Amino acid sequence: VKKFYLTTPLYYVNAKPHIGHAYTTIAADALARFKRLMGYKVFFLTGTDEHGQKVQKASEAEGLSPKDFTDKLSQTFRDLWQKLNIEYDDFIRTTEVRHVKAVQYFWKELNRKKLIYRKKYEGWYCTPCEAFWTERETAGEKKCPQCKRALEKISEENYFFAISQFQDWLIEHIRKHPQFIMPETRRNETFAFLEKNKLVDLCISRPRARLAWGVDCPLSPDHVTYVWFDALINYVSACGFREPRSKFSEFWPCDVHLIGKDILRPHTVYWPIMLHAMDIEIPQRVFAHGWWMQDKTKMSKSLGNIVNPLEVIKEFGEDAFRYFLLREVPFGKDGTYSDVAMTTRFNTDLANDLGNLCHRTLHMMEKYFECKLAANTAAKAENVLKKEAQMLAQNMERHLDLLQFNDALIQIWSYINEANKFIEDQAPWKLAKENSEKLPEVMGSLCEALRVIAQGVWPFMPGTALKIWKKLGLDARPILNDSFDKVKWNYFKEGTVTEKGDPLFPRRK
Ligand code: MSP
Repeated sequence: VKKFYLTTPLYYVNAKPHIGHAYTTIAADALARFKRLMGYKVFFLTGTDEHGQKVQKASEAEGLSPKDFTDKLSQTFRDLWQKLNIEYDDFIRTTEVRHVKAVQYFWKELNRKKLIYRKKYEGWYCTPCEAFWTERETAGEKKCPQCKRALEKISEENYFFAISQFQDWLIEHIRKHPQFIMPETRRNETFAFLEKNKLVDLCISRPRARLAWGVDCPLSPDHVTYVWFDALINYVSACGFREPRSKFSEFWPCDVHLIGKDILRPHTVYWPIMLHAMDIEIPQRVFAHGWWMQDKTKMSKSLGNIVNPLEVIKEFGEDAFRYFLLREVPFGKDGTYSDVAMTTRFNTDLANDLGNLCHRTLHMMEKYFECKLAANTAAKAENVLKKEAQMLAQNMERHLDLLQFNDALIQIWSYINEANKFIEDQAPWKLAKENSEKLPEVMGSLCEALRVIAQGVWPFMPGTALKIWKKLGLDARPILNDSFDKVKWNYFKEGTVTEKGDPLFPRRK
């Protein structure tokens, strides 16, 4: 069996989840479901990043201990994932023992390899970004080059990880593996950064006096671990790194880390170097998607310009929300959320195209056959629906291997519209009048097509897929058990009873 390991970033628990977090997680869930549909053994990991200054500050502001605060916030992420029908295989919190142990092992092992040293640091520090900046990078401005907030001058002893010696290796790796960083714009970004700058060794500790909420540093009681060095390690700690008989040997290296473009550097520079320095194989791919924007700026907790996924779900349902995010914008590009755009997608793609196809087909089943589907009615059919059904999985796979979610959806929708056209062309109402022998075959083909469509939309809209499956009288048979890439065209058993029921997506004003 082929395996597939994919991850989302671990979200900071300094505030509740918003549409940006939902985006990465929905994309990961759709990919995980598609791979499962194609017969892969999948490990889909998500979780929460719970240490560091941001979280410490946020818990102080709420008057809670960091432990109580992170318990509470981490749960809001789980709750949202449940609402959105996210089927992750594991949810890791960086405060868990299994993770802390792995982080401390990295410390000791890199220290043993003489890749960690202690040094006095003097310079500029951005507290919100938890980042050090050189005089040159700040260009004498005393403002954070990243978030533009005021910098603090600090002087302290810290531990450094000697990453600069791996620069040439990393450049070479990126050169040799064109699909390691995707899309191309992001690959160029990392490449340009590495070509233009000499890497500065990474400061991986923080003095406990300044920041107490972190993984204890095994080399010094006065230090804790820098939150990024801690968090990245989750990708191995969660699958049982160094545990006997764990998933690690089966699933590592990771097939794809899905991230937002805001965290490209830690994932494409620090993380590969950390692993390589540890003699661990590096991930196959890092894919950085774009941002959801509002008024031309990135939606973020600190700016407060966020769209709350719960409100969109309440209004449109979780499947429409999942569909919109993956269909509206090519994965990798920035996008803007608006209720108007959402309503348009809802009415055209969901209510008109998919909803009508389903409703018309099942309405005709009721009218002409009292909802009863005879066995093998479509077996002999040689028509466009059958032919294209065979291609659908491959066409989707070609796009999803490149993380082109919107193109995969376009493939399904062109099939849906083929089916709508088939109804017009075949005009079952005429065949019925003429008492034509062709009618059962036409209706049978439409039911087969709907069944295949339900499988195709399942990764994106699992609830809707199950509804269609059920309307076709197939509730006993889980979608996953049936081969999607080798489509059968005489699936229905004698005695299958369809049910029109309510429309899938009632039109909205
Ligand atoms: N904790 C770090 C990641 C550690 S990974 C080992 C972090 N967390 S975060 O809570 O800030 O979430 C960052 C991720 O959320 C982004 O990479 C992206 O996946 C998603 N998004 C947050 N805001 C976003 C938008 N406005 N638009 C799209 N996605 C963005 O960084």
